[in-house]
Amino acid sequence: MNPSLRIALVFCGSVLIAARTHAQPATTHPMSHDIRHDSRQEVVFPPLVKRHTLATMRMHLQGLGEIQQALADGHFEEAAHIATMNLGMSSMHGNQMAEDAKYMPQGMMKLGALMHQRAAEFAVAAQNAAATGDVRPPLRALSQVTQTCVACHAVYRLR
Ligand code: HEC
Repeated sequence: MNPSLRIALVFCGSVLIAARTHAQPATTHPMSHDIRHDSRQEVVFPPLVKRHTLATMRMHLQGLGEIQQALADGHFEEAAHIATMNLGMSSMHGNQMAEDAKYMPQGMMKLGALMHQRAAEFAVAAQNAAATGDVRPPLRALSQVTQTCVACHAVYRLR
């Protein structure tokens, strides 16, 4: 290859690399995780329990979306009902909780219980809003629910 062409190519390459490096933010968002170092605690669930747990999780996420929709529409009773059925204690079917609990570390179990408790608190706040029309208390209570999702996901993963 022609030496000056090679130098030109190398130069262009360096400029591209420099530009790309520059495009990356110098600091990452404080909440973001370094995916090369997953320091979450690995919890071993039997395959069927894991599949059931993840299906329940997806149902929780769907429930959050439906609750937000109901709040936006001013359907407070409905929001309370969804929270009770989908995120509350009654969202656990039969002896499922006892079954799952066998495989959960203590801290995970506590966070699960906290989520159900906060869902119940949300339901009360949403029912009150049906009388007051003020969406803020149930919204605040809902963010407490979401924070328990975030807290557990930050610490545990399933194998
Ligand atoms: C007690 C702990 C805990 C709580 C509370 C919790 N999760 Fe999870 N969730 C997990 C774990 C563990 C996983 C698996 C993560 C992994 O292996 O990377 C998971 C996975 C998920 C997934 C992925 C499902 C899939 O098919 O892969 C979704 C969606 C999810 N959670 C939603 C939620 C939402 C929404 C909430 C709150 C309303 C919530 N979770 C509360 C522990 C929890």
